Amino acid sequence: TYVVTDNCIACKYTDCVEVCPVDCFYEGENALVIHPDECIDCGVCEPECPADAIRPDTEPDMEQWVEFNRKYSELWPVIYTKKEPLPEAEERDGEKDKLGKYFS
Ligand code: SF4
Ligand code: F3S
Repeated sequence: TYVVTDNCIACKYTDCVEVCPVDCFYEGENALVIHPDECIDCGVCEPECPADAIRPDTEPDMEQWVEFNRKYSELWPVIYTKKEPLPEAEERDGEKDKLGKYFS
């Protein structure tokens, strides 16, 4: 599976949802997640994210993000279309520890 990681938080550009062939992105207040059981590993979303927040779970230290994506994809509604990024997306892009600072 591919997963959404820390740098999506407080940016939420949503370019990723436009390209996903199986509509497996789910939307929270300030981040998206991918449902790990629905993702077909096509990889097309990864280069679309302006914040470089999408990763394959084959990279090191992705376990916590797979769990994060699984947990919230079962709580949040599906998102089908791109929308405006969060207002502070550009300023927040690349900040460290966004999960600790901004996730709600
Ligand atoms: Fe959707 Fe493909 Fe990205 Fe998985 S890898 S979330 S199927 S676009
Ligand atoms: Fe987040 Fe990147 Fe999608 S910032 S909403 S994973 S395009």
